[in-house]
Amino acid sequence: RPRVLSGIQPTAGSFHLGNYLGAVRQWVALQESHDAFYMVVDLHAITVPQDPAELRANTRLAAAQLLAAGLDPERCTLFVQSHVPEHAQLAWVMNCLTGFGEASRMTQFKDKSARQGADRASVGLFTYPILQVADILLYQANEVPVGEDQRQHVELTRDLATRFNGRYGDTFTIPKPYILKETAKIYDLQDPSIKMSKSASTPKGLINLLDDPKATAKKVKSAVTDTDTVIRYDAENKPGVSNLLTICSTLTGRSIAELERDYEGKMYGALKTDLAEVMVEFVTPFRERTQQYLDDPETLDSVLAKGAEKARGVAAETLSQTYDKVGFLPAK
Ligand code: TYM
Repeated sequence: RPRVLSGIQPTAGSFHLGNYLGAVRQWVALQESHDAFYMVVDLHAITVPQDPAELRANTRLAAAQLLAAGLDPERCTLFVQSHVPEHAQLAWVMNCLTGFGEASRMTQFKDKSARQGADRASVGLFTYPILQVADILLYQANEVPVGEDQRQHVELTRDLATRFNGRYGDTFTIPKPYILKETAKIYDLQDPSIKMSKSASTPKGLINLLDDPKATAKKVKSAVTDTDTVIRYDAENKPGVSNLLTICSTLTGRSIAELERDYEGKMYGALKTDLAEVMVEFVTPFRERTQQYLDDPETLDSVLAKGAEKARGVAAETLSQTYDKVGFLPAK
């Protein structure tokens, strides 16, 4: 079985629709066909300031949402990044293999540090992509299911793995991004020229999966479209409508062409009303399931403990090979 590895940050409150459609949905599907490793990346989370109690709560919340979304601990390995110390250890080796200029070209750092003020951004935020490289290489992942915004980090992973293999001999599998074209980038409902995100979206443009379903329905109904009236997929000229069609198609399993046919001659309001309903049907059980996992923290923590143990088995093996190749003296 080919292996996949991916991660998600423990953000406050809830995952958003972009996280789910762009990544988590694929994680659920891939656990059937792949040897799958998925983690909550708390080490990445502290690249920006975090309240300790909130970080802990958000880490459990993230795990609960992943289980609610359909990850099955019998079919995949679900764990918390900080439970596997090898991530930080391999990241150091990878830091020393990365050029300063190379790291400086990572666009996500530029965006995030610009938002915080470059002087206030941490060095951790700067080396963030290199920790992600370590995450992926530790598991010898063949594919990395993510949204479009993570493509550059997977490219960096390929570059560094190739460099390491060239310098020290074959050690790492060269991973490929697994990015579904249709859902690679879900857009903000109010401003379909930007991606949906916690940091850039306004509350009305952002669908948080755990929000009150009524509020979610309202956001869908007030999504920005255009002054045309035809319901047709055209990402360039009709980004708002196209985004709604993508969301609707993915959540219902019906093709865009089918939807276009159904809505021929109908107004935007019809699509929005139907999508609002589809969304409510999706988020209502998702919220309930998440709450059930949160209500039983002992079970949740034991799932994560088992996951960490399995993950460590793989990670420790890769790290030990890496240390040996680099020339570290073994501790006898
Ligand atoms: P994060 O936590 O920001 O996002 C989790 C996943 O959601 C995807 N995503 C989107 N997809 C489509 N449309 C959107 N609007 C949208 N917004 C977010 C992201 O692409 C991502 O797949 N650095 C990563 C976490 C990470 C990781 C890893 C991923 C750490 N180590 C190793 C893969 C492999 C991040 O911050 O994702």
